Amino acid sequence: MAASKKLATAAVLVSLLALLVGPSAGLLGSGPGCSVFVGWPVLSILNSLICGLLGGNYTPPVRRNPPTGKELSFGYYNNPNNTASYCPGAEAAVTGAVKKAIDQQGRGVGAGLIRLFFHDAFVRGCDASVLLKNTVAAGDNTEREGPPNKDSLRGFDVIDAAKEATKAACGGRNVVSCADILAFAARDASDILSGGRIKFAMPAGRFDGRESFASETNQLPGPDSTLENLKEMFDAQGLSEADMVTLSGAHSIGRARCLFFTNRLSDMNSGYAGQLRAACKSPDTRVDQDPFSPDFDPDNLDNQYYKNIDKFVLFNSDAVLFSPGTTKEQVKANADNATKWEADFAAAMVRMGNIGVKTTQVAGLTEIREVCWRVNNA
Ligand code: HEM
Repeated sequence: MAASKKLATAAVLVSLLALLVGPSAGLLGSGPGCSVFVGWPVLSILNSLICGLLGGNYTPPVRRNPPTGKELSFGYYNNPNNTASYCPGAEAAVTGAVKKAIDQQGRGVGAGLIRLFFHDAFVRGCDASVLLKNTVAAGDNTEREGPPNKDSLRGFDVIDAAKEATKAACGGRNVVSCADILAFAARDASDILSGGRIKFAMPAGRFDGRESFASETNQLPGPDSTLENLKEMFDAQGLSEADMVTLSGAHSIGRARCLFFTNRLSDMNSGYAGQLRAACKSPDTRVDQDPFSPDFDPDNLDNQYYKNIDKFVLFNSDAVLFSPGTTKEQVKANADNATKWEADFAAAMVRMGNIGVKTTQVAGLTEIREVCWRVNNA
């Protein structure tokens, strides 16, 4: 009797845990294996527990070769020799859609677009897999449902509008991939949010993928990540430690939820911690990532992030960049030299845009999507 009671309690516990992080975390859904989310608070513990019960393992990210960038080209849609992709108005159409969205929704949506690009790149490469709501293999358990993304990413509507705008600019033809639109949009948002200081050309020629799994979002670092975790995850994508420090400067814009940093208020400047404690009415309250932006605009993409480290940043993953070592030296250099960081940021965004690109059309594997949130002929 006692044994069956224990068994029943265990079953209820497992079901509860499964409900908490289950299909939405990609644990029990389709996709490759049982995923452990390193650096994501609560989830990492629950996931490890459930994975343990299910006999799953933590598999560290598979290391990619450093992206070469050779597969893509600048001005890809402006090349009259390639009739299939020729559409000289394509990039301007995306820029127009991004500007319109920022005018209408505010500058925060620009932060959302830059993060969307990063989350796309780190999971299956830059193939717009982050945008899919549904696929044949994963059902509705796609990357959008993964713990780092669910109820967190924003800017999907801007990508949809940009897609329509490119079709209009290309005489109704479906020419511009969603993966390229995402890359152009992140480029444009960087330009606008930096007040024109981070202006760069983004190469293109990416095709869209047809797969997306929530479980694979464990390739994304979490706010509790250690320096080791961060280095391993960026290295796995073929990005350097220097790229990692440079790109983290994007935390000078946008918002973050209290659940990701209230565990470390005692490590922050006490006055700042007090303000955050007062602001955090619930774990889902969102606060500005940068408390000191000029003109009180929390969406200025600038080197203020490096001046904020380590007592005025939210996450452990931010503060650890100031641990003794090479990352600390780079943080100090970036804090002192805005112009150099801006140039480095532009170059690192281009490198990130080269990760895992798919540059040939392979039936059943790649395509140019008609609509960015679903695969063609779904
Ligand atoms: C280094 C590892 C990183 C970690 C652990 C990390 C983690 C996070 C977390 C937890 C949030 C808040 C999400 C929420 O509250 O829902 C966030 C926000 C954000 N992150 Fe990161 N991030 C990292 C790197 C990056 C990179 C490389 C970029 C882009 C280049 C980026 C851009 C952003 C932006 C712009 C936001 C604000 C988004 C918004 O307001 O919608 N992050 N990040």
